Amino acid sequence: MNTLFFLFILFFFNTVSSFDFPNRFTKSSLTSSLHHKPSSQKYFELALPLPSDRLTSSCTLPILRHSFANTIDGPPFSTPYSPPSDCPSPWSFVVVEFRAKCKGEQYDRISALWLGGVEILRTSPAEPTEGGIFWKVRKDVTRYSSILSRSDLDLTIMLENVVDKDFTGIYHVEVNFLYYKDNVTEVRVPSTTGDRNESGELGFIRQKTGLESSDFGANLAIVEEEPADLIIPISDSGERGFWFRSESELDLHAKEIRFPKNTRRAVLELYVSFHGNDEFWYSNPPNSYVAMNNLETARANGAYREVFVTIDGELVGSEVPFPVFFTGGINPLFWEPVVAIGAFNLPTYDLELTPFLGKLLDKNVHRLGIGVSDGISYWLVNANLHLWLDHKSPSVVAQSSFYLNPLLQIERQSQFRKLDGSFKTKAERTIQYTGWVKWSGGNHTTTFSQRYKLWNTIRFQNDGDYKSVKQKIKASREVKVLNDRGQVITCTSSKRKYPLRVITAKLPGSRKDTYMLVTNVSHSMDEKSFHGGRKRRLYNWQDSNGWMEVKGHSVVSGTAETLQRVRYRDVLGCYSRSVSASNGKLTGDNTTLACLSLASS
Ligand SMILES: *[C@@H]1O[C@H](CO)[C@@H](O)[C@H](O)[C@H]1NC(C)=O
Ligand SMILES: *[C@@H]1O[C@H](CO)[C@@H](O)[C@H](O)[C@H]1NC(C)=O
Ligand SMILES: *[C@@H]1O[C@H](CO)[C@@H](O)[C@H](O)[C@H]1NC(C)=O
Ligand SMILES: *[C@@H]1O[C@H](CO)[C@@H](O)[C@H](O)[C@H]1NC(C)=O
Ligand SMILES: *[C@@H]1O[C@H](CO)[C@@H](O)[C@H](O)[C@H]1NC(C)=O
Repeated sequence: MNTLFFLFILFFFNTVSSFDFPNRFTKSSLTSSLHHKPSSQKYFELALPLPSDRLTSSCTLPILRHSFANTIDGPPFSTPYSPPSDCPSPWSFVVVEFRAKCKGEQYDRISALWLGGVEILRTSPAEPTEGGIFWKVRKDVTRYSSILSRSDLDLTIMLENVVDKDFTGIYHVEVNFLYYKDNVTEVRVPSTTGDRNESGELGFIRQKTGLESSDFGANLAIVEEEPADLIIPISDSGERGFWFRSESELDLHAKEIRFPKNTRRAVLELYVSFHGNDEFWYSNPPNSYVAMNNLETARANGAYREVFVTIDGELVGSEVPFPVFFTGGINPLFWEPVVAIGAFNLPTYDLELTPFLGKLLDKNVHRLGIGVSDGISYWLVNANLHLWLDHKSPSVVAQSSFYLNPLLQIERQSQFRKLDGSFKTKAERTIQYTGWVKWSGGNHTTTFSQRYKLWNTIRFQNDGDYKSVKQKIKASREVKVLNDRGQVITCTSSKRKYPLRVITAKLPGSRKDTYMLVTNVSHSMDEKSFHGGRKRRLYNWQDSNGWMEVKGHSVVSGTAETLQRVRYRDVLGCYSRSVSASNGKLTGDNTTLACLSLASS
């Protein structure tokens, strides 16, 4: 590190209080030698197995192999895509596999894969060590079948990296597509909710499985719906990746779309990640705290963010995203070798737009916009519009019948004296809309309801050196489709909770130019969902404790313990896996099909 840079860092930390934590750090070679053998280490994200994991793919397409060195401010990397000729669609499953390795000193980065401008994966490449790391992300991309079956598209990847004399890590990335054709059986489970099929008769839930129903795996292989017929990207032009960069609340990015006249269903899938001054948006104090204390940070604007969607300027829905930590976040020692929930495969969010088809199916173009309420620099957002068409008719008739104006209720309380104090945010939004579509399958009325609640408390003590953030998000949504006799055809609902707790306490370091940070993070994704007759619960919880000694933005020493549990249950069975990691090494890893308690406290 050169002296000038070093002095700047010292100055920075002497004048600016630790309100700026949580932060992102890199692991220096000293940490690496403490914690790692020189050999390369495997990282992973603990998640549920994929439905296709125990099947053999019918064919594999190695599509991309590229090294990302100093790619900052450059264009993305693209390569032509066509599906393998010996393996034409339809497929029972398609999986994308992203493999990467990296060695040296590097920050975590953000990356995305787009096929014909449609995003199929948002992932964050992990921070490497001197000994090197490698990992693999697998994602079920069957829902993108309509785009995957097209030829002569570009597969595009964006991964902006910096390589210079301090940052030496080059990311070597490989992408493969795996197509599955055979060994799919359909299991018919009688609907317990009285769901009816298109003729209004009591029906069955169709499930696609790759295994015997007595085998576990079957539980995961539920087909929610057939993939859409058409997917239209709501994204940027692609010179700097297809994501829109949102730097402020005023940055509303829109795209004009003409809907096919025979669209019978529309769902907008949002891809979202937060960076820069909003990487830890849930821990940002209000601007008044920063101004009154003369702080030099831009990490402010309070702790509430919402990604919202508009149609022709009218708000139609929003999401408070799940807080994902990248591998340099808060304490990088926490996220090796098990990364944070969602870090390798960021969650996406679906908004049901079918009730709006009445307004969209004319000959006009319509503007679909995406923005971030209260957002500061910067967010990377884009969306995929999934459309299902009426194959038997060139047009359908639709009307939007009910729209509950989605007003946000937000309360903010702020109390502080100098650097100590507390900030509370409470927010709530309820959205409901209904519309009918008369197509060759019948006259179906769709109601989409969504509700959010967020509680956030940020507390500073010890002249701002102790900071605690507690947040709870509760989100529920329901899509209900009725036929014209008022009978339920489908009802899909989910209730999600994302509690989060982050504690950072700053203490003097063992040397003049260092400081200590004691850090605790606990977060989870608890989702109960209901599709047809099937109740499911997925509980993914992670808890990390540790400390680190920091010089500049580099961790020079520290310890970290992480415990994670994934528990899944549905009407056919259960799956549980727990892992523990200590100082970068996996110390425990248990999997069971026994139905363990899903207590979420
Ligand atoms: C399908 O199952 C059969 C018998 O279980 C097995 O021999 C075959 O390899 C499987 N095929 C694929 C593509 O997985
Ligand atoms: C609806 O369900 C009934 C009873 O399961 C079946 O006989 C009928 O063919 C189904 N109709 C459609 C359109 O799926
Ligand atoms: C479709 O169903 C809705 C709700 O039952 C009704 O109001 C509407 O008139 C129907 N549309 C047509 C074209 O039948
Ligand atoms: C972090 O968690 C550990 C274990 O739960 C606890 O003993 C410790 O006091 C916590 N540290 C802080 C700063 O809250
Ligand atoms: C795995 O199981 C063993 C034996 O029951 C237990 O001692 C250990 O704590 C478990 N590890 C994890 C990570 O759950």
